[in-house]
Amino acid sequence: MIEYIDVHKAFDVPVLTGVNLTVQTGETLSIVGPSGTGKSVLLKTTNGLLVPDQGDVRVDGESAYFDGDETLRRIRGKVGYVFQYAALFDSMTVCENICAGLPLGVNIREGWVLEKVAQALEDVNLDPRQVMNKLPAELSGGMKKRVGLARTIVGRPEILLYDEPVTGLDPVNTAAVSRLIRDIREKTGVTSIIVTHDIEQALEISDRVALLEHGVLRFVGTPGEFQASPDPVVRAFADRRLAAEAAVRIMEEDAADLKKDMEEETP
Ligand SMILES: Nc1ncnc2c1ncn2[C@@H]1O[C@H](COP(=O)(O)OP(=O)(O)OP(=O)(O)O)[C@@H](O)[C@H]1O
Ligand SMILES: [Mg+2]
Repeated sequence: MIEYIDVHKAFDVPVLTGVNLTVQTGETLSIVGPSGTGKSVLLKTTNGLLVPDQGDVRVDGESAYFDGDETLRRIRGKVGYVFQYAALFDSMTVCENICAGLPLGVNIREGWVLEKVAQALEDVNLDPRQVMNKLPAELSGGMKKRVGLARTIVGRPEILLYDEPVTGLDPVNTAAVSRLIRDIREKTGVTSIIVTHDIEQALEISDRVALLEHGVLRFVGTPGEFQASPDPVVRAFADRRLAAEAAVRIMEEDAADLKKDMEEETP
């Protein structure tokens, strides 16, 4: 279980101003919200990558901030973080990149290590024989995201934090990554928090959806509750696909009007 208790964080300006949220063990929760509202910052307070100015974050009842370095290490061992950008080491092979997700000091040439790497690649539907020795530059964007995911799951974390796992992917890769996130959860019972811009993905794969806005959680509820909420800000997000379609229609109508005007003006 993860508990965010009155979490405050400011840089030059306040970013988080009192976030309260409990994520149950085995739950999948998505966080949506406008760009720059602190979604990534909130995620990073979970395992001590960022320290809250006020409040606390507890993982299975323990605080990374108040319970000492030993606890911080234990929490970091439990929590896997899938970064917003795949953040692979460019000069290292896929195999070496994935080994970076294992405890320091493991010998990459040992059989059991290679087996774990191969298993992690298979878990993300990549063929180990094909990609193991490639460099990140030789992979497509979707494949890099998968390798990033493989590096995170290779150590079998109990908690997975995903920062924009599908941003920049085409619809086919988006659907594939969504399926992977669901499969990993079904296979391992992992607790997951997913920060995403993709509302459809959030509604599809989550038990609950949270909307972060102006430093606090404006809404937390099931996908059904999200879609039924009368709150205008939630509506703006839930209807974003409709809003985008409306915008395209308006642009097309404008273009048609312009074309008509030009035709009328042409003698
Ligand atoms: N390490 C940092 N130092 C200074 N400012 C930071 C740092 N990390 C984040 N910020 C600021 O905090 C705010 C929230 O950033 P954050 O990355 O959490 O936004 P976000 O909701 O994840 O946005 P996006 O959807 O674009 O990823 C931004 O104004 C950002 O500039
Ligand atoms: Mg972010």
